[in-house]
Amino acid sequence: MLHVAEIAEGGERWAEALERGKIVHFSLCPIALPPPGDQDFLREGLAASLKAKNVSWYPRADKLTGLRSSAGLVDRARRILREHSLRVRSFLEGAMPAFTRGWEPGTSSFRPFEEKGRGLSAHASNELVHVDAGAYGATHGDRILRFFVNLNPSRDRVWISKGSFAELWKRHGAEARVAEGGLAPALPEKIWSGLLRAATGAFPMARVIDTSPYDRRMRRFHNWMKDPPSFQDGPNQRFAFAPFSAWMVLTDGVSHACIEGQHALVDTFIVPLRNCRFETPYQLLRGGAR
Ligand SMILES: [Fe+2]
Repeated sequence: MLHVAEIAEGGERWAEALERGKIVHFSLCPIALPPPGDQDFLREGLAASLKAKNVSWYPRADKLTGLRSSAGLVDRARRILREHSLRVRSFLEGAMPAFTRGWEPGTSSFRPFEEKGRGLSAHASNELVHVDAGAYGATHGDRILRFFVNLNPSRDRVWISKGSFAELWKRHGAEARVAEGGLAPALPEKIWSGLLRAATGAFPMARVIDTSPYDRRMRRFHNWMKDPPSFQDGPNQRFAFAPFSAWMVLTDGVSHACIEGQHALVDTFIVPLRNCRFETPYQLLRGGAR
């Protein structure tokens, strides 16, 4: 059973709640949001220029994707997402210094479309319950932290979940062929990953073509969850996030699907595995103690 944690005082208690598979919820977003004019611009000004399901800002390259448009409009969207990303980052680094130490800030995205009934392909659909795997390429066990804001002024953003990674893995891991076992990469793969990591500074996308036994197994579990109707048909927990509320969760450790809502900000961070103090998906897949 999943829990939404309302924790007044933050800091390492948030980190512990995240690691224990909780959704840390803020009934009002704890950081300043983009000014009203910029919010209107995101919600209404981009509609005619969208060419992807997300409008995303990439911090290392200061690059914006998802829009087919004039430079002026792209520049404004980039500036809004960059400023939002930096506010989220400094808030979380201030609140959870140990947990965020050495982390890698990823994209800051605006989700412009209605999530209900989007009819994407199964593996890309947000409406099917899954744990995150593969969207950023190989993590080698590092964790995926996402910070969400419902930027819709009048409608909830609705999620469903079927529980934590640990619960689902214990129940379905064998059937999904992701039971525990060695996660040590073969030597050629290790060398390949090392080369790619060295290249990541110059080529931020190098991570995307990397892989590891851990990442392949996580991806297999992700795909398995989206394939059999029997899994998707089972009971869910439902969470409704009100306008201008915010929440954060380790999305590789908590199953989730967004079934309703439009207009959200989503910031992604890769948290080093070494910062984790409690049981992780890596530890479970590998088997035994860390
Ligand atoms: Fe997801």
